[in-house]
Parts: sequence; structure tokens; C-alpha cells
Amino acid sequence: MKKEKIILTGDRPTGKLHIGHFVGSLKRRVELQNSGEFDKIFIMIADAQALTDNVDNPEKVRQNIIEVALDYLACGIDPTKSTIFIQSQIAELCELSFYYMNLVTVSRLQRNPTVKTEIQMRNFESSIPVGFFTYPISQAADITAFKATTVPVGEDQKPMLEQTNEIVRRFNHIYGDTLVEPEILLPDNAACLRLPGTDGKAKMSKSLGNCIYLSESADELQKKIKSMYTDPDHLRVQDPGKIEGNTVFTYLDAFCHNEHFERYLNEYPNLDELKAHYQRGGLGDMKVKKFLGAIMEEQLGPIRERRKEFEKDIPAIYEMLKKGCDTAREAAADTLADVRRAMKINYFEDADLIAEQAKRFQMGE
Ligand code: TRP
Repeated sequence: MKKEKIILTGDRPTGKLHIGHFVGSLKRRVELQNSGEFDKIFIMIADAQALTDNVDNPEKVRQNIIEVALDYLACGIDPTKSTIFIQSQIAELCELSFYYMNLVTVSRLQRNPTVKTEIQMRNFESSIPVGFFTYPISQAADITAFKATTVPVGEDQKPMLEQTNEIVRRFNHIYGDTLVEPEILLPDNAACLRLPGTDGKAKMSKSLGNCIYLSESADELQKKIKSMYTDPDHLRVQDPGKIEGNTVFTYLDAFCHNEHFERYLNEYPNLDELKAHYQRGGLGDMKVKKFLGAIMEEQLGPIRERRKEFEKDIPAIYEMLKKGCDTAREAAADTLADVRRAMKINYFEDADLIAEQAKRFQMGE
């Protein structure tokens, strides 16, 4: 049988999704979904993982499940093609994590760069909750439970995929070929790998207040773009401006195509010419921001409208999620059966084991 092509990916429900999520992963997921190249697609709302650093804020996680689901649907994730489900509803994932814990050392987890930075960000240095510390293991369970071959995520997830592959190799080495090694799929455009916040800081984050959300109103969107960080030394229109570290140009790198010039700024043929003019001097920030505003509205407007439609029937979305959980649970249970067999903990379905032991004891051992 030809090996199935399976996608698993997901997001923590700690807030609405923003354009960093969109260019980093969401947009790609929709393209992959619609390419018809994949046999199965699982999109997970990672609430259990969100709780690893939001223990005392369950209400936040609970409220954001629907926000993330709405963002998915608004972007074009189609529940008839992709299974959207909620992590905590699949008990098999906990069981799998428990077995994987035996395959990973404490020092290996300590070396995981994403965990390292996150520990610093959350001031966990002196007392790290075990659940948070081990979330890369649970993430390996998420991925392997669905026998995922492809995991489209942002660059920050690379260490998680490396750790997953180590677990898979170790498991298969000890217990025999059972689990599938996944491949990471990163955005192909450098600007999309890590979209900075509107203030020019390295990452979009809710706590920094530098996000543009997918559900942003048209007015708010334009306001945020107008106040974006550019080149602080570009004071007058005639001054030469810098492109590097200029957030407006980074966003253009991520969102702009040549057709956009025909539509909104036809005095330039392409982004290179626009950049060159900015660098020479004589091009004001406002003009570039207006152009970016038009492009972003073209991209986000339809997403916003679709979201409003889905918001009209919230119970239907919970129904869809419930069905998704059922489908996901079935898939994970299949893998768990393989895992239990491989690990020799499938006592009751192994008639040979029982017969063999019965014989041994009868021989009076
Ligand atoms: N760690 C991911 C994030 O923070 C969410 C996630 C949990 C995930 N499990 C996953 C992503 C498995 C891909 C595959 O966004």
C-alpha cells in the first residue's frame, strides 16, 4: 500500500489568531488542503498545551477555543476536507505522552531551544512546572498519534519536530517499526518565517500589543498600519530611507505581489523599484503605508466577512468540533493499538501469550 500523506498541525488557543499565524502557517494549510494531495488533514486546537503555561487561567483557554475555530473557518479551512479537533478531548494523546516520557532525558529537554526561550519569557527559571517542561513530548504524541507525514508550522516549532523525530527513531529502534517520522514544512518566503510586530519587535505577541489580528475591523487595520514602525531616521520625504528592519517593507515582502502595483500603485512596476525609490529618498512613509493598507485589506477583508458569517451560528461550530474530535479519537486509537502491541502491553488481545503461558505453567515450571 502506498504510504498515506497526512498533515497534523495546530495552535494554542490563548488568543485570536494574527497575521503572523496567517503568513507563517494558516495560509499554507489552506493551500495544502485545497491541493488535494493529502489523504488526511488534522488541525488541532492545542488547549492542553495552552494550559501548560496558563494553569490558573482556564477561562482564557476555554473562551479562545471558539475564536481559533472561527479564525480557521474564516481563513478557508474546510471541515469537509480537514478535521478540526480539540486536543484535550483525545485521551489517547496523554497515554502516548506517558510512554514517550521513557524515551527522553531531562537534559535533552533542557537543550530544546524553544523551551529554553519560553522558560525565560515566563520567568520559570527557578521553578518550571513539569507539564510545561515536558510539552515537547506531548507535542510528539500529537504528531505521531495521527501518523503525520507533514507538519506545516512556523520556524519556532523546528526544535519540536527534531525532538519528535528522535522519539520516533528511538521508539522504532526499541519496539520495532511502528511510528512515522514527520517532515516539517516551513514557509518558503523569508519574511513569512517570522513576521515582526507592528512596533518592529521580533515577534508578534498579544502581551506586547503589536499584533494585527485576522478579525481586525477595517478601520482598526488601517490605524495599526499607519502607526507602524518604519525607519526612525527617515524624517522628511526627501531623505533616503532604510529597508532593513523597516516593518512596512517586511510586511510588503510577505504580502505584496506584482499585481498589487497594477491595482494600487501603478507608477512602480514591482517591489524592488519601490524599495529603490525609498532608499534614494523622495518617497514618504505614508504613501508606502497606504499601499500596504490596500493590500492587507484585500487579503483580510474577505476573511473578516467570512468570520462574521460563521459567527452567526456558534452552536454549529461546536457541533463541527465535536465531530472532529470523534474522527481524531478514532485515528489516535488506531495508533495506540499499534503502540500497545509493539510495547507488549496488549495482554488481552494476544491469544498466543495466554496459550503459551498456560502451557508453560501446566508443564509445572
Ligand atoms: N506548539 C504549537 C504552537 O505553539 C501548537 C502545537 C501543539 C502543535 N501541538 C502541535 C503544532 C503539534 C504542530 C504540531 O503553536
